[in-house]
Amino acid sequence: MIRKANINDLKAVYNLLQEGVKSGKVLNRSLKELSTVIKSFYVFEENRKIVGCCSLEVYSKKIAEVRSLVVYSKYRNKGIGSLLIKKCLDEAKSKGIYQVLSVTDKSDLFKRFGFKTEINKKQAMFLNLG
Ligand SMILES: CC(C)(COP(=O)(O)OP(=O)(O)OC[C@H]1O[C@@H](n2cnc3c(N)ncnc32)[C@H](O)[C@@H]1OP(=O)(O)O)[C@@H](O)C(=O)NCCC(=O)NCCS
Repeated sequence: MIRKANINDLKAVYNLLQEGVKSGKVLNRSLKELSTVIKSFYVFEENRKIVGCCSLEVYSKKIAEVRSLVVYSKYRNKGIGSLLIKKCLDEAKSKGIYQVLSVTDKSDLFKRFGFKTEINKKQAMFLNLG
């Protein structure tokens, strides 16, 4: 079952994100930061356990980001990741957002939704200020 996350899901989402962080695929986020954005997350539950998550962070009417996408390895390749992306995109569309970005090496997965690589030979870089 897919649903919006709430503050009670904070620890479970944090633990799930660590799985992605370990593999170097997902940016680390502190519990404090996550608590401010937890409502931007969708979670996928199986037998009441959160096994997948993804957030749509809306920065402005112009741009939002699909980020923090992780599914526990045991539950992968069953369509859960795709469903999470779809929910985020449905929300972005319903909010009339102009552009959605994702920083990912799973380009095939995102291309299926119509994402395109627009900037060649450039890397996303980050400076953490908090
Ligand atoms: C990326 C990630 C979230 C994908 O989750 P997932 O639940 O496996 O995603 P899906 O099942 O929707 O898609 C994965 C593959 O399974 C295939 N698939 C989807 N439904 C399927 C089904 N019912 N049966 C068999 N295969 C299926 C998809 O076509 C896809 O193929 P691809 O690898 O060639 O793109 C997961 O691999 C993960 O957590 N990785 C580590 C963190 C990470 O890389 N996050 C992305 C950062 S943006």
